[in-house]
Amino acid sequence: MDPDATNVIHRDLTKVYPTVVRGEGIYLFDADGRRYIDGSGGSAAVTSIGHGVPEVADAIAHQARTLAYAPTHAFTTEPIEACARTIVEEFAPAGFSKVWFVSGGSEATENAVKMALQHQRDRGRSSKQIVIGRWMSFHGATLGALGYGGNAGRRRPYGLALPAAEHIPPCFPYRCWVNPRCPGCDLTCADQLERTIRQLGPENVAAFIAEPAVGATIGAVAATDGYFARIREICDRHDVVFIADEVMTGFGRTGRNFAMEHWDVSPDLIACAKGISGGYAPLGAVLAKPEFVAEARQRRGSFVIGHTASGNPLSCAAGAAVLRYIADHHLVDNAARVGAYFLERLRDLRDRHAMIGDVRGLGLLLGVEFVRDRETKAPFPREWNVGRRVGAATLERGLVSYPGAGTADGIDGDHLLYAPPLTISCDQVDDLIAILDASLVAVAEELNAKAPASV
Ligand SMILES: Cc1ncc(COP(=O)(O)O)c(C=O)c1O
Repeated sequence: MDPDATNVIHRDLTKVYPTVVRGEGIYLFDADGRRYIDGSGGSAAVTSIGHGVPEVADAIAHQARTLAYAPTHAFTTEPIEACARTIVEEFAPAGFSKVWFVSGGSEATENAVKMALQHQRDRGRSSKQIVIGRWMSFHGATLGALGYGGNAGRRRPYGLALPAAEHIPPCFPYRCWVNPRCPGCDLTCADQLERTIRQLGPENVAAFIAEPAVGATIGAVAATDGYFARIREICDRHDVVFIADEVMTGFGRTGRNFAMEHWDVSPDLIACAKGISGGYAPLGAVLAKPEFVAEARQRRGSFVIGHTASGNPLSCAAGAAVLRYIADHHLVDNAARVGAYFLERLRDLRDRHAMIGDVRGLGLLLGVEFVRDRETKAPFPREWNVGRRVGAATLERGLVSYPGAGTADGIDGDHLLYAPPLTISCDQVDDLIAILDASLVAVAEELNAKAPASV
């Protein structure tokens, strides 16, 4: 749709967007009948079970006919109970048996932070109010979540309107900020949390929030083995609530139900969204342990949180049906198996394309980082928009990628994120790789024309 003709404020106000009209499996179809592989799984890592699954559509239609909305201050409903039961019985890590529903990822991370702050207050530690996040992370676009997040480009326009929060360096083996021996390192990046807590005073620090594998901002960077075990120890030592932001990584995306399970580490709260309802309806959640909830119940009777759409019956019916589908079709195992194949194929591409500096990921959350010089890892000039260029080239050829910028240091650098539906097969990965391959050849030619021998 032409920017002058639309009444919608789109993400990019200068762009002509094709109209997508239908989805089926891993494919999207536009109004001209063109087919695209949904390689990013929406924006991004949302479409866990693929598009057009009839049993989910039926569940939503049934719920809409029966009860579309109910006042949550007065009632519970069957879909909210069923969705929570399915999460706990089929997916939640050991010990997490309580679920608070919201409408998406930003609400999930902000509500988790509020619950952590209340937890500290209720236990008489009311000076514990500081939240620590990590540079290069993303926890949502609302002001609170943006404040805990560490994406320089997205934070900069809002300056002092962001809530005060502290940030430690990321765990980013390809571009370690703190230890030149990384990744064969001693987890100096995790120890930065201890140092920061001590500097701020443990009596002032309420919570630490981190993505197990950083998604949107740096392109599928999983923590080093041992990192989160060290983080857990530090949080325990200083009574800091450890919040895992599994908004992208939850519900099978990385080949485990939740990504923290790769390292056998149990956080205090888990924020989740996206794959929970696979894009069929807006839904997010905070998962908690019963003892955490029991304390709020005993002291105050409730958490001081709540939104109009919390526990919306349509969203919960969609969530319950999507999660049932993931469990019944063994999609978490498929994500692990096909994800490993996908990563191998990306490694083949890296061997053939000098502009790829690194490929990485866990399960079906995968990233491709571009560099101008592999030796020095120097990124391309920002104004060349290399990530967006490659993304546009793949879209032209029928593949939706998720480009990101600021990968190297929050300002420069480019990557693509891939997070296709967990239903994807190895043959479909081959099709995706063939499109990416052709797109990289085309973009390398363009860049070489700009600055010969740069790629
Ligand atoms: C790790 C993470 N947390 C939180 C969010 C925010 O989720 P939402 O856009 O649903 O508010 C995102 C969105 O990309 C995310 O990737």
